[in-house]
Amino acid sequence: MVTVTDNRADRLGAELSRMWGKSSEWAAELMSFRLLYIIMALLSDADRRKLDDSLDGQFYDSPRFVTHADDGFLGRLTTLYDDQLTPGDRVFDAMGSWVSHLPATSLGRVVGHGLNEAELKENERLDEYFVQNFNENQSLPLETNSMDAVCCALSVQYLEYPGAVFSEFARVLDDGGVLIVSFSNRMFPTKAVNAWRSASMTERGDLVASYAEAGGLPRTDQIVDRPSSDPFYAVIAKQ
Ligand SMILES: C[S@@+](CC[C@H](N)C(=O)[O-])C[C@H]1O[C@@H](n2cnc3c(N)ncnc32)[C@H](O)[C@@H]1O
Repeated sequence: MVTVTDNRADRLGAELSRMWGKSSEWAAELMSFRLLYIIMALLSDADRRKLDDSLDGQFYDSPRFVTHADDGFLGRLTTLYDDQLTPGDRVFDAMGSWVSHLPATSLGRVVGHGLNEAELKENERLDEYFVQNFNENQSLPLETNSMDAVCCALSVQYLEYPGAVFSEFARVLDDGGVLIVSFSNRMFPTKAVNAWRSASMTERGDLVASYAEAGGLPRTDQIVDRPSSDPFYAVIAKQ
């Protein structure tokens, strides 16, 4: 297993300071212009384009009672959640379906979200759920600071406006809360944004980290693992 501590802004600052022979104070000051960095990191219109630009609601209209990664991946994800969550935590499981990857730990309120109501209804781990297309409306119907963890599994590649969605993830997270975004190399290719389809797995990790930074969660760690056939990638982000 490889765990990478990866604050991209710090890494970029260190790289620029090395290239131009400047002090680390200079790099820190440069990186304080985070807005510039964030704007550079997010998607252009071409980046967010999809092969199938029909409404996402139509694509997810019929329930799919399948899993979207192999058992090794899903088991690794549950272990990661178990490591990151504390009993009693309030959890928002964004872009979910009929299965939960949350551990057996006794949690507080668990709110689910997805695009197919029949799938969410079957998900026994959820206390409540809502259906919302994030490519049409990025505002979450959740209170500010109301969650201890936000999880987003195997789905981030479908977001056309990740900066706005991740800033909502950050808003609903309470102080000390954690965002856990996981992905593999599988996807519905016609529905993934161009930036994702054209990126390597390492670049995808950096892309997700840049979404988190843009949203206001600048401290990111990346986990890379291969529990069985499907590669396991996760970005863990905090304030
Ligand atoms: C591959 S499934 C992953 C589901 C679940 N997280 C899991 O691990 O089994 C992708 C999910 O992303 C969600 N999704 C896709 N496009 C979306 C959109 N535009 N807005 C909101 N959710 C979307 C759907 O609910 C769909 O179930």
